[in-house]
Amino acid sequence: MSSCPSQVFPVVWYENSVLLIDQTRLPHEYGFVEIHRCEDMAQAIKTMIVRGAPAIGVAAAYGMYLGGRAIQTQNRDEFLHQLEEVAVMLRATRPTAVNLFWAIARMLKTAYETLGSVAEIQQALLQTAQTINAEDLHTCQAIGDRGLEVLPSTPEKLNILTHCNAGALATAGYGTALGVVRCAWAKGRLARVYADETRPRLQGAKLTAWECVQDGIPVTLITDSMAAHCMQRGLIHAVVVGADRIAANGDTANKIGTYSLAIVAQAHNIPFFVAAPRSTIDFSLASGSEIPIEERDASEIYAIGDTTITPEGVEFYNPAFDVTPADLITAIITEYGAFAPNQLQEKLQANLV
Ligand code: MRU
Repeated sequence: MSSCPSQVFPVVWYENSVLLIDQTRLPHEYGFVEIHRCEDMAQAIKTMIVRGAPAIGVAAAYGMYLGGRAIQTQNRDEFLHQLEEVAVMLRATRPTAVNLFWAIARMLKTAYETLGSVAEIQQALLQTAQTINAEDLHTCQAIGDRGLEVLPSTPEKLNILTHCNAGALATAGYGTALGVVRCAWAKGRLARVYADETRPRLQGAKLTAWECVQDGIPVTLITDSMAAHCMQRGLIHAVVVGADRIAANGDTANKIGTYSLAIVAQAHNIPFFVAAPRSTIDFSLASGSEIPIEERDASEIYAIGDTTITPEGVEFYNPAFDVTPADLITAIITEYGAFAPNQLQEKLQANLV
């Protein structure tokens, strides 16, 4: 297994509550929000204090535990009924990242399969949330190792372009796309990361840049519109991005702007990789057109910080994700290996905890 561990853990179980790194305040402030109640966890997911598909899944799992812990009844059926209501609330936070729904389903499965008292179910819920958290760390490290096997061999060290933040902050603490980057760095194969700033919420500028600086990985920040130019100039050897939901045919939803990046990568004959855990693949959806795309508040577009940058009378459209068609994707790097998008079903449909 590769080194270059991250020291950043966005979701931590600590003394009977959950500590979340407040990602809305990075890079200027590094601090934690303490979460005791499932309602507060739902709000933290909605407001993107915690964000990134796998991290959302881990947070939701703890949210299910916190919700279960607060249920007063000793009656098993009534407990399960109320836990279903907690699940409904958490599912309503963000629609695109399927890890949210996967983690909630796994927590409900634990509850239904634990035959015992309500206290025993509650204990089992905590254990499953902690397992989901720990597993994600190992999964991301495996994704990093698998990614290293498919990165292009070049005489010089690689420049990798990434979009949004698919790093430690977006997972349990290592990263998917940035996990591949970390492995490449640890093995001396990386020259630098080019990070798209990622309008409108600037996860690249604020979070990816911060993470790379923390770990001493050379990073060059560009605005999203500079990616094609950098490719044309020969500055980019590969693109590696994360995913929020991958349909059975390999179509991939990820942060808005990923699709245009894939088009320009193809135009310049540059390999385009998606790095994601098996839990991000949704085999119930045949293609990307079925993936729900979150629309967020217009203020993300018309304001920078507290400053409004647009004139009165303009209308806005703010989709948070787009879908990259499978035929633009060189390979999908999972913890089980890297596969062409059209191999996913054959290779992976059976593997899911
Ligand atoms: O809106 P966000 O910041 O939650 O979007 C995050 C992304 O699009 C990531 O690329 C994706 O969730 C993968 S994170 C490993």
